[in-house]
Amino acid sequence: MKLDELAHSCVVGLQWGDEGKGKIVDLLMAHHDVVVRYGGGANAGHTVVVAGDKFALHQIPSGIIRQEVMCVLANGMVIDPAVLLGEMRGLEERGISPAGRLWVSDRAHVVMPYHRREDALAEAAADQAHKLGTTSRGIGPCYADKVLRYHGIRVGDMLDADRFRAGIARAVAHKNAYFAAVYDERSQLDANAITDEYLQFAEQLRPHVCDTAQLVNERISGRSRVLFEGAQGSMLDVDHGTYPYVTSSAPGVGGVVGGSGVSPRTIKSIVGVVKAYATRVGDGPFPTELCDATGETIRTRGREYGTTTGRPRRCGWFDCVAARYAAMLAGPTHLAVLHMDTLTGMGELRICVGYRRDGRILNSFPAGAYDFAGVEPVYESLPGWDEDVSGCRRFADLPAAARQYLAAIQERVGAPILLVGVGPTREQTIVIED
Ligand code: GDP
Ligand code: IMO
Ligand code: MG
Repeated sequence: MKLDELAHSCVVGLQWGDEGKGKIVDLLMAHHDVVVRYGGGANAGHTVVVAGDKFALHQIPSGIIRQEVMCVLANGMVIDPAVLLGEMRGLEERGISPAGRLWVSDRAHVVMPYHRREDALAEAAADQAHKLGTTSRGIGPCYADKVLRYHGIRVGDMLDADRFRAGIARAVAHKNAYFAAVYDERSQLDANAITDEYLQFAEQLRPHVCDTAQLVNERISGRSRVLFEGAQGSMLDVDHGTYPYVTSSAPGVGGVVGGSGVSPRTIKSIVGVVKAYATRVGDGPFPTELCDATGETIRTRGREYGTTTGRPRRCGWFDCVAARYAAMLAGPTHLAVLHMDTLTGMGELRICVGYRRDGRILNSFPAGAYDFAGVEPVYESLPGWDEDVSGCRRFADLPAAARQYLAAIQERVGAPILLVGVGPTREQTIVIED
């Protein structure tokens, strides 16, 4: 496979998010024309490092860094307009203009101040054992309102001032009563102030709003190559992840179809992204977590602090059981394995090849968080390497132990490795073309 043979690709995380999707999207955009974010919102933080410049994207697709690319925020996203406009301004200031090439779905739902408040209130009210550790960006409450339907507000609704004001008045009255009754929250949100503020956002976004499903399908018919940029990771999938310690959307390939309005027949390549170890931010099961000096070493060397919240990420050994399950869900045509440089000099490495409970190997993946109770990882040990790999540009340049480690991941996860990360920059990537 050569990179320029990729078409209509989907880049998805096969772990708990932060796998390095932003870097892979940026790299693959050299071979695509349109990039589509199909789910999640400002909970995502995708990092791209180009020529010493670091970009952290939250709602705008990582593909924006390449000037010629069309960027789409599709219907499956939940959009915080203040954050979006801030991101657009931030890019403008750095010489990257979204004008004329950034499109926002009129069907995407809008994250309102009461969603962020509800996220914070629900987390604060939960006892320690039931806090989810959300990013507090209002994601869950916004998706809940979308599905509940009484108070959902879509981007298109903001463009009709009268309808919007009436909708916000109803929603805010409901939320104020609900927050007071359930959380004893005394301060009331002001519907008119929220409406006025959001109507200003709406005017700035108006030139960017359209039916993005139609736009993307027209581009596909016109032979543009489209890349679907996943946010979060398969283990955070609301259906398939470690429920309830998940996000509220479908980050995997399943989310592409509903979240952007394209046929499943569109997708031709699926690149599953993993780190060479595992991380998780927020609460929830993490069988291979290392709460010791080794975990601390990975965190320090890999700079494992959240792109969105700055929280230290929990770190652990690579979990082949979870990654293989995620690969079963996604059916990746290729894998990207990042952060091989971070594992340099760690001594003997471990990968989890099975889950054991009460002395027995599990033969099915735990259905949710509570089914992980008592689960212990079964490890296989592999030799480490001490050589600096950050300058390697070909597979053959890697030390034998690193090649063996990658072969083990490929074998256990069950898809061929196309890309290997040896550092954060665009160039620090090995392409295994055949
Ligand atoms: P995303 O949410 O999946 O896009 O990932 P994040 O951007 O949240 O986190 C990935 C982090 O790893 C970022 O800081 C990247 O710059 C960095 N990164 C990506 N690939 C590599 C790699 O191969 N080596 C190192 N050292 N850092 C990498
Ligand atoms: P990217 O796209 C890592 C996690 C949160 C929390 C859970 C629910 O950068 O990979 P939410 O705010 O979505 O209700 O939080 O999901 N989470 C992420 N973790 N990377 C992300 O995105 C995440 N988006 C959400 O930490 O555990
Ligand atoms: Mg991230």
